[in-house]
Amino acid sequence: MEQIETLFSEILQKHPSQEGSLIPLLQEAQAKYKYISPELVQAVADYLGITENRVFGVASFYSQFRFTEPAEHTISVCLGTACHVNSGETLVEALERDMDIKPGECTADKKFELERVACLGCCALAPVVKIDNDIYGKLNLVKLKEIVSKYE
Ligand code: FES
Repeated sequence: MEQIETLFSEILQKHPSQEGSLIPLLQEAQAKYKYISPELVQAVADYLGITENRVFGVASFYSQFRFTEPAEHTISVCLGTACHVNSGETLVEALERDMDIKPGECTADKKFELERVACLGCCALAPVVKIDNDIYGKLNLVKLKEIVSKYE
């Protein structure tokens, strides 16, 4: 128990040991570790003197928190109106098939995760896919495969 708290002590000790610290503490921890692990939930609960269920319950109310380790690369397929009518759905279906995952899932090697998103703000380039922070537009299946292979 103490070992787990020690692991996260750098973040924990910046915040008062009271329940009001829960959200800022989780925000800071997620910024550093990219997700809220079960070990982190346990450490936060112990530090704040609340149950793990309470930590999880509050954190899961906010969509900003994620509880699974992120993959190395996130592929976001736009399915806003312009992309949807320009075959965005075909792109996401091809990625699902090739990677054998559904949106919201990671590949077994944790290399890629797939998500469907609403408008990425560059509709003139439809259909659009974002990989990490890079935007790719005017895509077709061949171009998409080539681009994804660069991240492998
Ligand atoms: S609908 Fe895809 S970028 Fe706007």
